[in-house]
Amino acid sequence: MNAYPAVDPIPLPAPVWLLKLLHIVTLSLHFVAVEMLLGGLLLAILLSLFGKSANSLVTARALARRLTVVMTFVINLAVPPLLFAQVLYGRALYTSSVLIGLYWIAIVPTLMLVYWLLYKFTARLEAGKSAWWVGLMAWLLAGGVARMLSTNMTLMLRPESWRGMYSASAMGAYLPTGDPTLEPRWLLMMAGGLVIGGLWLVYLAGRSTFTAEEKKFVAGVGGKVAAGFGIVYLAAGLWAASVQPEAVKAGLAGHAVYPAYKFAGFAGYGWIALVVVAVVVGAIAGFGKISAGWLGWAGVLVAVLVEIMLTVYRDGVRDVTLLSKGYDVWDRAVVTNWSVVGLFLVLFVASLGVVGWLVSVVARAQKTMEGAA
Ligand code: HEM
Repeated sequence: MNAYPAVDPIPLPAPVWLLKLLHIVTLSLHFVAVEMLLGGLLLAILLSLFGKSANSLVTARALARRLTVVMTFVINLAVPPLLFAQVLYGRALYTSSVLIGLYWIAIVPTLMLVYWLLYKFTARLEAGKSAWWVGLMAWLLAGGVARMLSTNMTLMLRPESWRGMYSASAMGAYLPTGDPTLEPRWLLMMAGGLVIGGLWLVYLAGRSTFTAEEKKFVAGVGGKVAAGFGIVYLAAGLWAASVQPEAVKAGLAGHAVYPAYKFAGFAGYGWIALVVVAVVVGAIAGFGKISAGWLGWAGVLVAVLVEIMLTVYRDGVRDVTLLSKGYDVWDRAVVTNWSVVGLFLVLFVASLGVVGWLVSVVARAQKTMEGAA
């Protein structure tokens, strides 16, 4: 018996490859923002709590001031991949979402709370009050949201466990158990936060609003954190890959049944190589205390590429896992509505341009505010 609900009778309005491409692009950007939030927030908390010098507080404030903006990007860059994922994998993703319904719905109020706490954290830091505990609450809740997302994205790959869960509770009150891939996958995202957060500091170190001494401090801390946690990140990634079922490993190695997925397997090696580059960039900035603009931009580039590679590999893991359980994402009726697709692409590119412009306005405003402070 097929475990998946019947396919939607309405055909897809765009080719699968295009939907997948848009999904990977937007999800990679969501991951960059997520990692900046998780890592930047933790660094700001630790610097405000344990930092002994005035430089620590300056760095914590510089991060905190930007986190509420980062949060808007986390959410806005999350909606498009959610929509593309639902179009491509709806029969699996809707099922798993319903099975953990209470927790899934709880993400919305949790996010509102995180947002509010981030504003409180920043305001308390600016006012010179103790803020670490407010930041810590926000970080734990954001980590909880990440956990729910990892839970759902792994449960959607396990149709064999759906019936038992639904029999236990039709209310969506239970979380799945016994999936060896969940823990490493979540830890991978949590560890990645400190790598991307560290690289973010390497980039920020080049800002003219810092004094020469502050720049050295920011580059030193950021670089060392990125380099150190790059190694943890690598270990978490290898762990997450090693616990995948044999069929998935074989599929990503280019097994005859799934030759097309060899590309996703290569992206895994690309991810390893890029994390090594991130470690090197971090080490140069961190131990050399170098705040040069080119190094900051190298960090930004590596961060984006790392997330793209991770997303492609992760997509391969999902497709091969689902294929091994009878769900072929490429096997869908497609009736492309090219005029709508064309309009969508024009608006998509235009909106990316607007987002880029918004980022530049925020960056310039931040510079002016910090210059005035
Ligand atoms: C604090 C806020 C958030 C955090 C920390 C966060 C974190 C994460 C993490 C860790 C993953 C990867 C899960 C895994 O595969 O193991 C993920 C994936 C995802 N997130 Fe977010 N997220 C946040 C907000 C959101 C919001 C608000 C949405 C939806 C509107 C969203 C939509 C998604 C989607 C759709 C995926 C996976 C897409 C796919 O696999 O196709 N996220 N997120």
